[in-house]
Amino acid sequence: MKNQKNILVTGGAGFIGSHLVEKLLAEKIWRVSVIDDFNDFYAPAMKRANVAPFLSNENFQLFEADIFDAEGLRSIFSANNFDVIVHLAARAGVRPSLEQPKLYAETNINGTLSLLDLAKDFGVKQFVFGSSSSVYGNNEKVPFAETDQIVQPISPYAATKAAGELLCHTYSHLYDIRTVCLRFFTVYGARQRPDLAIRKFSQLITEGKPIQVFGDGTTRRDYTYVDDIINGVRAAIDYDKTAHEIFNLGESDTVELGYLIELLEKNLDKKATIDRRPMQAGDVSQTFADISKAREFLNYNPQTKIEDGIKKFVEWFVKK
Ligand SMILES: NC(=O)c1ccc[n+]([C@@H]2O[C@H](COP(=O)([O-])OP(=O)(O)OC[C@H]3O[C@@H](n4cnc5c(N)ncnc54)[C@H](O)[C@@H]3O)[C@@H](O)[C@H]2O)c1
Repeated sequence: MKNQKNILVTGGAGFIGSHLVEKLLAEKIWRVSVIDDFNDFYAPAMKRANVAPFLSNENFQLFEADIFDAEGLRSIFSANNFDVIVHLAARAGVRPSLEQPKLYAETNINGTLSLLDLAKDFGVKQFVFGSSSSVYGNNEKVPFAETDQIVQPISPYAATKAAGELLCHTYSHLYDIRTVCLRFFTVYGARQRPDLAIRKFSQLITEGKPIQVFGDGTTRRDYTYVDDIINGVRAAIDYDKTAHEIFNLGESDTVELGYLIELLEKNLDKKATIDRRPMQAGDVSQTFADISKAREFLNYNPQTKIEDGIKKFVEWFVKK
């Protein structure tokens, strides 16, 4: 198609990445390339199922590659004139990062650096980076705003995401690449990662097994429905005001863990058995996004209240 643009989505077989690919293909103006290594952080079969519907689309191509395979990536970049990179490939998850800090640093810091370097070498002008609310650590001021200091991350994962943002700034400054860092606040919806609370709890409640609740249930999270996040990512692809920017993408509504469990029980129509444990190292007590900046510059306007989002999630979960 004439005027079609080339976009690379790293981590496009994952939870958020596969939703983005779905949206981009539906627009029919993109040639979408995905790089994903299908690692076993969770079942690779789930990731293969995520991309399966795209494989027959003539505007889609899948590269099964590691973002460290420098030579392989060079040949992918030289064969495709990418206009935009959305970099979502990462080792995700706070708690496992305490077990494997070097793997997290390698993937999330050096991997991001490799992609920025390729963007520089191949003249890619727009780089969108999937960052995280965890960079705020135990920020006392709520809601969390992009102007808050982020110098006190409390997990290796959070530190790697903060480092990724700094590298984005550096490359934007040195090499005229527009970098847009998006701090996602706990994303949920169909195809959610199985290690995340909403899906993990749904699985255990359904099987009649106890769910481990860390702390007294009063920890709070700004849970963000995946369709809202994807609208924010899509707007970041077009963002053209400044050379480097950071945006919070949350629902700007903070929900207690105890209430989340009640909603799951109601929608699954089954009581949870709770195995209460002490708070875990690395976990923050609350997240809460100030989204006024994203509202102003990305026209970001999240629509999904937790009650509706959990209903939709459970509808998917019981059918999958
Ligand atoms: N899900 C959330 O709540 C959330 C919150 C904040 C930030 N994020 C960030 O958003 C991004 C996507 O998260 P997700 O929940 O979809 O995770 P995900 O694990 O489902 O997706 C990440 C994908 O990246 C791929 N990947 C990992 N390392 C790779 C490598 N070395 N080479 C190639 N591919 C590799 C994985 O195979 C996976 O398919 C991540 O950067 C994550 O840190 C997610």
